Amino acid sequence: MSGLLINQPKYSWLKELGLSEDNPGVYNGSWGGSGEVITSYCPANNEPIARVTQATLAEYEETVQKTREAWKMWADIPAPKRGEIVRQIGDALRKKIKVLGSLVSLEMGKIYVEGVGEVQEYVDVCDYAVGLSRMIGGPVLPSERPGHALIEQWNPVGLVGIITAFNFPVAVYGWNNAIALTCGNVCLWKGAPTTPLTSVAVTKIVAEVLEQNNLPGAICSMTCGGADIGTAMAKDERVDLLSFTGSTHVGKMVAMMVQERFGRKLLELGGNNAIIVFEDADLNLVVPSAVFASVGTAGQRCTTTRRLMLHESVHDAVVERIAKAYKQVRIGDPWDPSTLYGPLHTKQAVDQYLAAIEQAKQQGGTLVCGGKVMDRPGNYVEPTIITGLAHDAPIVHTETFVPILYVLKFKTEEEAFAWNNEVQQGLSSSIFTKDLGRVFRWLGPKGSDCGIVNVNIPTSGAEIGGAFGGEKHTGGGRESGSDSWKQYMRRSTCTINYSKDLPLAQGIKFE
Ligand SMILES: NC(=O)c1ccc[n+]([C@@H]2O[C@H](COP(=O)([O-])OP(=O)(O)OC[C@H]3O[C@@H](n4cnc5c(N)ncnc54)[C@H](O)[C@@H]3O)[C@@H](O)[C@H]2O)c1
Repeated sequence: MSGLLINQPKYSWLKELGLSEDNPGVYNGSWGGSGEVITSYCPANNEPIARVTQATLAEYEETVQKTREAWKMWADIPAPKRGEIVRQIGDALRKKIKVLGSLVSLEMGKIYVEGVGEVQEYVDVCDYAVGLSRMIGGPVLPSERPGHALIEQWNPVGLVGIITAFNFPVAVYGWNNAIALTCGNVCLWKGAPTTPLTSVAVTKIVAEVLEQNNLPGAICSMTCGGADIGTAMAKDERVDLLSFTGSTHVGKMVAMMVQERFGRKLLELGGNNAIIVFEDADLNLVVPSAVFASVGTAGQRCTTTRRLMLHESVHDAVVERIAKAYKQVRIGDPWDPSTLYGPLHTKQAVDQYLAAIEQAKQQGGTLVCGGKVMDRPGNYVEPTIITGLAHDAPIVHTETFVPILYVLKFKTEEEAFAWNNEVQQGLSSSIFTKDLGRVFRWLGPKGSDCGIVNVNIPTSGAEIGGAFGGEKHTGGGRESGSDSWKQYMRRSTCTINYSKDLPLAQGIKFE
C-alpha cells in the first residue's frame, strides 16, 4: 500500500468525489493528461494525499480547440436555458457540499467551515446566475434621428480562461464559471498547482451535469498545470477573456502578455487591507472583527486585515484586547470542527512568515505576540501582532500572505484615510465609527480608494451579491454580483434605420 492519505480508511471519503491515487488532470469532454505528475500534500501534516497528472502543452492545445467547438452550440442555447444548467450545477454542488468542503480543508488547509463556506459561495453564485439568466440586457436609447432605434446588444465574449489562486480553490472558479456560463461563454480552468485535487473534484461535479444534459463536457474544460499552461493561456488569442486571480507579481506578467495581444483581462490581485478604528468605535465590534479578519484562514485571504490603524486614544486598550483574543484562538487540524486556525498552505509560506518578522523587527517593529513556527507537524505558525512600525515602513506596504498584523497609531481622520490609500494595493478597507459624517467622507471621493469599502464590519467576508475586486495594483477587475456580468460580455451599440430617409447624426448634411 502506498503512503497516500487517500488509501487510509480515515480519508476514504475522498473517493466519494471520484478521486483515486492517480487522477487525470485534463478534462475536455473526456479525461486525460500525460504531463508532469504532481503530488498534492496536506498542509496540516505535509503527508501526500494523492497524485494528479497535469496537462502537456499539446493537451492544452487540443482542449482549447474542443472548448471553442463546444461554444458554437452553447452560445445558441437561450440564456434562461443556460441558467437552468447552472441551476443544476448549483444543486449538484449542494449534494457534495460537505465532502467537497472537507477536501478544501484537507488540501488547502483552511478550517472545515470555511471550506464548506467556499462551496456555499459557488452555490450562491449559481443561484444568482440563474436569476441573471433572465435579466441580462441592454437599454434602448433615444436616437436623435427620426425613424431610428439605438439599442445596446450584449453578446458572450466566447472562451473565458480562468486561472485561480490556491487560497480559494473552489469559490473563485465558481464566481467566474457560473456568471460566464450564463452569459453564454465556455470556460477553461487552470487551478493552482498545489490544489489540483480540488480542481479535479469540482470539474467532475460540473462535468456530470453537462454530460447528463447531453451537452459537450468541453463547455467547462480544465487543464491542470503551472506557469507553462498559465502562460499559454495568457498568450493565446483564442482566449477571449482571461480572468486571473493571484499575486500582483504574477498578475502583472499575465496582464502584459494579454495586453500584448489586445486581449481582455479580469485581474483579481493582491491586497493590503486596513481596518481603521476611531475614538468613538464600538470596541465590542472591533475586537472580534479584527481577530476574524487577521487570523481567519491563517492570514491567507486576499481581504485579510494586514494593517490595523488605531486612534491614539484607544490604541493600547485595543492591542491588549486583541492580543488576549489571539491567545485564545483554537489551533488544530483544520478539519476538526472546534479549530479556528489551521496551517499555512506551504513550507515556502512559513519561510516568508519568518522573513517578514525579521524585516519588521529591523524596521522598528515590536512583537506583541506570536512570531514563531509552531512545534508540531505541518506548516503551523503563531498568529502575530507587531506594533511600533511607521505607517510607510516597507514591510507594512508589502502583502506577505501570512498571519501578521501590523498595528499603527494615528491621530487624525485625514492621516488615517491617507495611510489607508498610500499603499499600492486597493482591495478592501473598513472603518469603525459612529460618526455619520465620517462614514460618508469615507465612502466619498476623498475617502477609501479601495474596491471594497466597509463600515463597522471587517475587511474580509464579502457577500456574492456585490461586485468583488479592487483598484490600483489589485488589478481593477470585478467579479460575482452587481453588474460584473458585463465583464464576461461584449457590448455592441446598434443603430437601426427603419425609415426611408438617411439623416446623419449631428445634423450633418452630405449632399
Ligand atoms: N483579489 C482577489 O480576488 C484575490 C483572491 C484570492 C487570492 N488573491 C491573491 O492571490 C495571491 C495568493 O495566491 P497564489 O500564491 O496562488 O498566487 P500566484 O500568483 O502565485 O498564483 C496564481 C495562479 O497563477 C499561476 N501562475 C503562476 N505563474 C504564472 C505565469 N507565469 N503565467 C500565468 N499563470 C501563472 C499559478 O499557477 C496559479 O494558478 C495573493 O496575492 C492574494 O492576495 C487575490
